[in-house]
Amino acid sequence: MKPRKLIAGNWKMNGSLAANEALVRALVQGVGAEGGCDVVLCAPAPYLSQVQSLTANSGIAVGAQDVSAHAQGAYTGEQSSAMLKEFGVRYAIVGHSERRQYHGETDETVAAKTAASLANGLTPIVCVGETLAQREAGQTEEVVKRQLAAVIHVNGHCISEIVVAYEPVWAIGTGKTATPAQAQAVHAVLRAQLHHAASEHAAGIRLLYGGSMNAANAAELLAQPDIDGGLIGGASLKAADFLQIIAAAAR
Ligand code: 13P
Repeated sequence: MKPRKLIAGNWKMNGSLAANEALVRALVQGVGAEGGCDVVLCAPAPYLSQVQSLTANSGIAVGAQDVSAHAQGAYTGEQSSAMLKEFGVRYAIVGHSERRQYHGETDETVAAKTAASLANGLTPIVCVGETLAQREAGQTEEVVKRQLAAVIHVNGHCISEIVVAYEPVWAIGTGKTATPAQAQAVHAVLRAQLHHAASEHAAGIRLLYGGSMNAANAAELLAQPDIDGGLIGGASLKAADFLQIIAAAAR
């Protein structure tokens, strides 16, 4: 069965109490009784409880942008999945390319963070994607399969509970979107890999596309057979743009 589409906003390190309030109020009002797709806002950690209060009873879920691989202890600066869960957080982005690039996260770290999320009932949004150099060297398929294989290896059949986001690194924040055909080709590879690991559950695992998705290109990307939603950076900070993407997914 085809899953409900999921539109996730990744605010990255943006926002303020005042800006978040204006944005979330506009989104809550705009989403209204729409209900045609799932929506999640991944806010910076200090604002999670603010966004949780603002979205209460709205149908919009809250997500973290990262989660610790550990359960508790001497890990200064980290937040555990149990802590996030206590604040009503439902999703956690795991292995975003910015975490891989600037914080040295390896495929093994990402797999462990996925396991830590699942252990406390958070839905991990596991990010995979190739760099421009890797694409130009013809390694796209090999790279995304290796990244996802590490997560499958550690999480086994629990893989049916994850969300996967394909985010080509060269498309993030650059205005260069993968064409719908390019994105679909990679999504089909990921779907086949999930099918191998989770057989009949694979069709229900949501595969999001991320990388310069915006109000103008969302509909065409979301129309691809293996694109089940989007992970949106820049355009998720503008209420009108994000609402247009949500509307495209709800159609
Ligand atoms: P942009 O939508 O700003 O390209 O960011 C994509 C992204 O990295 C979402 O996680």
